[in-house]
Amino acid sequence: MAEPGWAILDADDPIVERRLGVLGDEVGVRWLPVDQTVDQTGWAPVAVVVDLDRSAGVQAVVAWRARYPEAFIVGYLGTPSPQVWVAASRSGADLVTNRGSLVPRLRARIGELTRTGAGLARFPLVEADEVAGRLGLVQAVAETPVGPVAVYQVDARLCAVADVCPHAAGRLSPGELVGGVVTCPVHGSQFDVRTGQRVRGPADSDIAVYRVTVADGYVALVSPR
Ligand code: FES
Repeated sequence: MAEPGWAILDADDPIVERRLGVLGDEVGVRWLPVDQTVDQTGWAPVAVVVDLDRSAGVQAVVAWRARYPEAFIVGYLGTPSPQVWVAASRSGADLVTNRGSLVPRLRARIGELTRTGAGLARFPLVEADEVAGRLGLVQAVAETPVGPVAVYQVDARLCAVADVCPHAAGRLSPGELVGGVVTCPVHGSQFDVRTGQRVRGPADSDIAVYRVTVADGYVALVSPR
């Protein structure tokens, strides 16, 4: 994805901060301290680095994992502690490392993360409150990083699909939805919004299906990793 990368440093550690700043310059990732981590971009951070030497370090891992399921979460220890190491791993850290190895190990991963877009891709589509109890089309969003997207609720499940017909680029969201199948209002192609599968032509291909998550009060688009 083309969004700028950003990451969170959950630590009060000037040396780590400086080293991560250098790494960030290398790979195009901006590190923000916790008090500046407003979801201003609507995108999840590419990574979160947590100081596990603090008494609440493991709880912080749990909280970041819940808030940003897609982010690469790293805990580091200045003082070796097998118990904390295991607890942090079990609490959702993708990587636990000692302080000296933090930057080299993160460097080995973060370039790949930013190239593939992993951890960057969460785009709010609709407030979760607006979706509750509704069926069928719940939102059509014309501009997202993957183009127009329509969000449906079918069989108590949220489904997000490309809101563009592959036949002649008609918008699908104004089309009728019956039993999870939408009919393109332009020439009548049909697609199952649960799977993206083409049910009837003239379109000769399926439509894209996107992963969504509900977090921070929003139904959000999550790009494929
Ligand atoms: S544009 Fe959808 S069927 Fe032609």
